[in-house]
Amino acid sequence: MNALKMPTYMNSPIAINDFLVHESVQDIITEILTGLSAAPKYISSRFFYDSTGSALFEEITGLPEYYLTRTERAILKEAAPRIVNSSLIKNIVELGSGDCSKISILLDAIPDRNFEETAYIPVDINKTSIIKSAEMVSKKYPGIRIHGVLADFIKHFKAIPDDENKLICFFGSTFGNLSRTQEIPFLLNLKLWMNPGDQLLIGFDMVKDIKILEKAYNDEQGKTAAFNKNMLNVVNRYVKTNFDPDQFDHYSFYNIADARIEMHLKALVNIEVTSPHINSKIFLKEGETIHSENSHKYDSGHIHRLAEISGLQIKEIYTDMNQWFSLVHFQL
Ligand code: AVI
Repeated sequence: MNALKMPTYMNSPIAINDFLVHESVQDIITEILTGLSAAPKYISSRFFYDSTGSALFEEITGLPEYYLTRTERAILKEAAPRIVNSSLIKNIVELGSGDCSKISILLDAIPDRNFEETAYIPVDINKTSIIKSAEMVSKKYPGIRIHGVLADFIKHFKAIPDDENKLICFFGSTFGNLSRTQEIPFLLNLKLWMNPGDQLLIGFDMVKDIKILEKAYNDEQGKTAAFNKNMLNVVNRYVKTNFDPDQFDHYSFYNIADARIEMHLKALVNIEVTSPHINSKIFLKEGETIHSENSHKYDSGHIHRLAEISGLQIKEIYTDMNQWFSLVHFQL
């Protein structure tokens, strides 16, 4: 087990470890500027999630067009009793914690509802999200121990405690935001971190009618557009650039060849951006885009290949009536 110091949060049973403090601001600035000087330009989707971005994402999950969250939740509701009864689960780790609605479905399915023996470990890049989910869970499930980890779980994998009897949850098809080349290393890292008996749940959004996919990322209320553009405010804060989000359009489409929704920010006019961290300006021509996110969609063949290559066993695949979403239960 990792020997972690557990600072408590406001005298509550909630402990939070911050691993982002170890990340230097200079590294973040370099990462962003590298993307902005590339051709085509890109910014990592991890820069969506400041508190405004996290709040917008939460609103997106409730939109009628964004079927992912409600579909996964319905699948989980049906599958939860089988998942929690399939082995001894003491530590529930949630990668990308978000609100506590999904974890509650699992916790509600724990027999006898005795939480003295249970720990909830939300891992997120946004502190407000961790605190929010930790507080909600601790209120709803008295006695449960909570150990939040503020980290980018792609980079700071070793930061997460590796206690035994873990159920690791990676909901919401966030797996789909990894690049294709990150998929297997990520699963291998997960596998290394798992002990015999540990369980792993991953949500995958499935390939479907393009119209349904594109609507989910181009909602009528413009929440996804606001979420996409807010990234420029985050970048402005880090790199002291002068991006004006209103000079960009939200541009999102399904790329059939790569089976993914792509999100971009498209310049509405010619734009010059300055930053005290660089000598020259960043130029964008009208119509030029900054690639901000990939959201991969899966079919069952791809999921089986991922399991085969990473050496993880598929215990069960839970899906909905339309097979729009799959919740895959893996074990060692
Ligand atoms: C977090 N992630 C799974 C979302 C997705 O669907 O790829 C992020 C998102 N981007 C636009 N809408 C939601």
